[in-house]
Amino acid sequence: MNFDKRVLVTGGAGYIGSHACKALKKAGLFPVTFDNLVYGHRDAVKWGPLIEGDLTDLEEISAAVREVKPVAVMHFAAYAYVGESVKNPGKYYRNNVLGSLNLLEAMRDSGVDKLVFSSSCSTYGVPERVPISEGHTQNPVNPYGATKLMMERMMADFSNAHGLKFVALRYFNAAGSDPECEIGERHDPETHLIPLVLDAALGRRPFVTVFGEDYPTPDGTCIRDYIHVSDLAEAHLLALGYLDRAGERRAFNLGNGTGYSVKEVIRVAEQVSGRQVPVRVGARREGDPPQLVGDASLARKELGWNPRYGDLKMILSHAWEHRRKIAGIRN
Ligand SMILES: NC(=O)c1ccc[n+]([C@@H]2O[C@H](COP(=O)([O-])OP(=O)(O)OC[C@H]3O[C@@H](n4cnc5c(N)ncnc54)[C@H](O)[C@@H]3O)[C@@H](O)[C@H]2O)c1
Repeated sequence: MNFDKRVLVTGGAGYIGSHACKALKKAGLFPVTFDNLVYGHRDAVKWGPLIEGDLTDLEEISAAVREVKPVAVMHFAAYAYVGESVKNPGKYYRNNVLGSLNLLEAMRDSGVDKLVFSSSCSTYGVPERVPISEGHTQNPVNPYGATKLMMERMMADFSNAHGLKFVALRYFNAAGSDPECEIGERHDPETHLIPLVLDAALGRRPFVTVFGEDYPTPDGTCIRDYIHVSDLAEAHLLALGYLDRAGERRAFNLGNGTGYSVKEVIRVAEQVSGRQVPVRVGARREGDPPQLVGDASLARKELGWNPRYGDLKMILSHAWEHRRKIAGIRN
């Protein structure tokens, strides 16, 4: 990999994208963020310039690719609220599919041929077996997951027709924050369990809702695979290296391979914070599979990925430090 080169990072002002920018800079690369700041934060863009632009505008993304001349693109920008995607699918197809298509065309027209894409475990739908490996049927059960699968297919078609080299990284549940606490998770609205639980511990929310405790799991609550955001960022660097070593096109799961139930997460959050988390039990949410756990052995083998922060307690303590910071309790 030539480390003095630029990488265009769509969605670099968001949660995972900003952590990837930090990792790129640390590795000696030069991240250039392209973000419309609809959900991102200007102050999360710390490791390179920000181009304010919208992927759904072909001219804006084409001009950015022409100007930056990146060696590769990391594509994080998307809308990612599953429930909203069910109620307003048009918003998701327009942003995630049209936006991604514009990016592919802009890259093709400028001769940029390496792409690392944020895909998702939601492309698998309700799993037939866990842990889920890459060969599992992809049958998304909501429009959000469908948009991610469509991009995977578009990348394959652009690869066949135009020689695009790509890695689709199918993340399980991104969690935690930068261990140095410079950046962290700041979705607005927030729908992810860990920040919601920690906000309830801090008294910034009156309680956290557990959606269903009658699932066929040991304690009745849903089981998910939480993967530290800095481990995700590291996997992106490795994916770039893989493409640079002539890797052509590939999909990898990124997860820890261990599932934790909602109640387990709450219990560990109470240990880490030393506070009680007020809980209310609500009805199941439609389309929530009981268990989503990933088999990431392929990423370990092919990319040499070795997650450093796999322990749930560590994930929660990093998230806790950042939550306290944005609550003004910590510098
Ligand atoms: N957070 C997770 O657990 C998770 C799991 C699986 C996959 N993903 C995927 O990872 C990616 C990043 O997720 P995140 O949690 O960091 O989300 P995020 O909302 O924090 O970041 C997304 C960024 O993209 C930007 N953006 C959205 N649409 C844009 C457009 N049309 N033009 C320019 N910028 C645009 C937003 O402003 C935001 O800064 C997304 O593609 C998401 O689908 C996330």
